[in-house]
Amino acid sequence: MARKTAGTFQKLKDNNEKIAMLTAYDYSTAQVLEEAGIDGILVGDSLAQVVLGYESTHSVTLDEMLIFVKAVSRGAKNSFIVGDMPFMSYNLSTEQGLENAGKMIKAGANAVKLEGCNRHILTLTRRCVESGIPVLGHLGFTPQLLNTIGGYKIQGKSYETAEKILESAKKLEKAGAFAIVLELMPADSAQYITQNLSIPTIGIGAGAGCSGQIVVIDDILGKFTDFTPKFVKKYANLHDTIMESVQKYSSEVKEGIFPSKEQSFELKEEEREKFNAG
Ligand code: KIV
Repeated sequence: MARKTAGTFQKLKDNNEKIAMLTAYDYSTAQVLEEAGIDGILVGDSLAQVVLGYESTHSVTLDEMLIFVKAVSRGAKNSFIVGDMPFMSYNLSTEQGLENAGKMIKAGANAVKLEGCNRHILTLTRRCVESGIPVLGHLGFTPQLLNTIGGYKIQGKSYETAEKILESAKKLEKAGAFAIVLELMPADSAQYITQNLSIPTIGIGAGAGCSGQIVVIDDILGKFTDFTPKFVKKYANLHDTIMESVQKYSSEVKEGIFPSKEQSFELKEEEREKFNAG
């Protein structure tokens, strides 16, 4: 099957088909996502929390992100992979952002995600697109601005604030972004923004009116349990599955049930006899 691209997202939107994205951070999960035919994989900086155990996304570095992008791209060779640019890997200058976006592509990503929409981000978006690096924008709640926003606060709660987000979205669209993530906002606001853009929106905690959805895979599989946002639907409970398996393994080791003959390597009969004779 041909690799999906940024253009596939536009086609899906134009055909009124929803876009399903998920995050992934490792090789074997990426393999499953590819086999399942997911439209796009984000190697999100959320891995700072769900994989590396940091308190926020601020702590993860570009070098750390690149390791996960490489792993996912090895597991999902035919998928559309977006590398999330971590805090301060693109904020210093256009040159810094462009060079680091290039590192994401060299590591196996097919596009990058940039948070926010100030003048610098718009210039960087334009430069990336001109250089052949598709850009996924990110508006609404932007976790890298957590200290400025002052917490996990819902954005676009009034017509006026939703209009402001729409204005930013239009600027990103004009700068060449192929789609925009809308995070944590009332469904009506996200739908209004979506209806007034040509490019697709990908919602997370932004209701059903977006062109597509993305969630953190560890959240929907019930593996990450430090906190569960209201917008997360659990499709599995891996925390409990892993717990039960680990407890069973541990007790079988202690009781001598594991490993059994089935999981052991046998000597040839003549060799075993030598052990018995000796
Ligand atoms: O880092 C992340 O996982 C994200 C979300 C949009 C899912 O930015």
